Amino acid sequence: MLFARKRGPLAFISGAAVLLLLTYLYLRQSDDEAAVWNPPGPQQSPDARARSRERQQAVKDTFSKCWHSYKEHAWGADELAPVTGGRRDHFGGWAATLVDSLDTLWIMDMKAEFEDAVAAAEAINFTHTELREINVFETNIRYLGGFLSAFDLSGDVRLLRKAVEVGDTLYKAFDTPNHMPITRWDIHAAARGEKQVAPNNVLIAEIGSLSMEFTHLSMLTGDAKWFDAVQRITDEMAAQQDSTALPGLWPLAANAEESIFNSGSFFTLGAMADSTYEYLPKMAAMTGGLLPGYQTMYEKAIDTATKHNFFRPLTPTNEDILISGEVHAKDDGSIELEPHGQHLTCFLGGLMALGARLFNRENDMDAARKLVDGCVWTYKALPHGIMPETFYMAPCQEPNDDGACKWSDEAWKEEVLRRAGKDASAADADAIIDADRLPKGFTAIPDRRYILRPEAIESVFMLYRVTGREDLLESAWDMFVAINRTTSTELANSAVHDVTTKEKPEAADSMESFWTGETLKYFYLVFSDPGLISLDEFVFNTEAHPFRRLVR
Ligand SMILES: *[C@@H]1O[C@H](CO)[C@@H](O)[C@H](O)[C@H]1NC(C)=O
Ligand SMILES: *[C@@H]1O[C@H](CO)[C@@H](O)[C@H](O)[C@H]1NC(C)=O
Repeated sequence: MLFARKRGPLAFISGAAVLLLLTYLYLRQSDDEAAVWNPPGPQQSPDARARSRERQQAVKDTFSKCWHSYKEHAWGADELAPVTGGRRDHFGGWAATLVDSLDTLWIMDMKAEFEDAVAAAEAINFTHTELREINVFETNIRYLGGFLSAFDLSGDVRLLRKAVEVGDTLYKAFDTPNHMPITRWDIHAAARGEKQVAPNNVLIAEIGSLSMEFTHLSMLTGDAKWFDAVQRITDEMAAQQDSTALPGLWPLAANAEESIFNSGSFFTLGAMADSTYEYLPKMAAMTGGLLPGYQTMYEKAIDTATKHNFFRPLTPTNEDILISGEVHAKDDGSIELEPHGQHLTCFLGGLMALGARLFNRENDMDAARKLVDGCVWTYKALPHGIMPETFYMAPCQEPNDDGACKWSDEAWKEEVLRRAGKDASAADADAIIDADRLPKGFTAIPDRRYILRPEAIESVFMLYRVTGREDLLESAWDMFVAINRTTSTELANSAVHDVTTKEKPEAADSMESFWTGETLKYFYLVFSDPGLISLDEFVFNTEAHPFRRLVR
């Protein structure tokens, strides 16, 4: 036993939470069909289907190459180093790539490889790590999410046992006076029985996105303790959602020690916040609408974000697109938009398409489409056809006025200078644009990497499944070809340092587990029959692990 301490982690389980869970488990047995969601689903011509099948095979070939290299060079490690063939352990050393890819193997019908991987996964010891500290959020979405989804798909009970093992380890991070979790958690101190207190500064994404996995684990085991642990966080967030400086959104950081979620002035749906918002409608989808609070929270958040965070950028071709930016709430009560785009935020268009269908918010489809088109446009605007991690663009002042959003070289250059903090002549602007390799419309590119992230294809996939728009398949294919061309190594695929260079970007020798867990899964599914992982039956966690929904 690693955890020698005898004190029960959560001595007190809230009655309301148990009641909800039991209601839910009861309803699971009933014929309640009220929450069934039926997207129209894409209908393809035979020609289009044949083309999709070829593309699907190309994606599988890329996955298969990565998987076999991982197996040969880094089996059991968190990651393969895709250039040098080395091993990397950043996520507990519990074979992150292996666990994160289990459901991908199943979905791609690589059953022999799946069997190998399950057998290897059985031997992982989730109470032991060489790392000083574990990231509860990452462990939750990658490992717990990976096992739950692989169990949902295969029914192999060994996977549910591993999920419980991960869940039991993570549960101990909630053993604090107010039962808020320690998000960057010293597992060794916990094992020594040291007193634990939740930190006073945690990222909202890391504390707000444990709900799907923990609730799903309770759903599958019938044990309410996990659901109860995360429902406490949700209750606090719901109670404080209207009293933040930008009501509807939560500030980037929370004080977990004192359960404060409404103090702070910076609001984003991007890095360090993203999946908290993502899980609101997805919790509603997963639990078949049994927890209506999630819909309310989602609607408040999206209404605020639509009003304050989204902006239409100036583009040379006057595209009617949106980017989700960031907001500073000032002391004088005013709101300032930071026109900062991120690859991570690209999940949002797809999510809003899902939310629109789920909650009959057809008005959201317009913004959903424009956000997805914004990501597609940004990919195409860069020389290798890939969006950088982060960028700035010039927001157009009156997004609904086509005249005011008309491209102007001067307006763009003015914004480049403003962003660079200079009040000089247009000649300086040209020099900056040249030196920083800024495509037209971009005013700065602070982070030029592409690290094999999934969010853009994720949203293209979601919007395609919801609308059946055929042009999205072409966008998906262009993205795949561009990414594959730019990131391929002899062994696998690698993150790259700079997608703005003229020459082929230099490889960073890194392949995070989300490449095979998420990115290639979404590429595969967008070219698959919509019956494969139907959105009527499944909802994806933030690591692209499909969980079975509570619907018939
Ligand atoms: C897992 O690791 C812990 C801590 O090092 C150890 O006590 C335990 O025996 C291990 N379990 C297995 C099954 O190896
Ligand atoms: C992906 O890249 C690999 C390695 O360069 C190449 O063999 C393969 O043909 C590429 N696939 C597509 C569809 O371009």
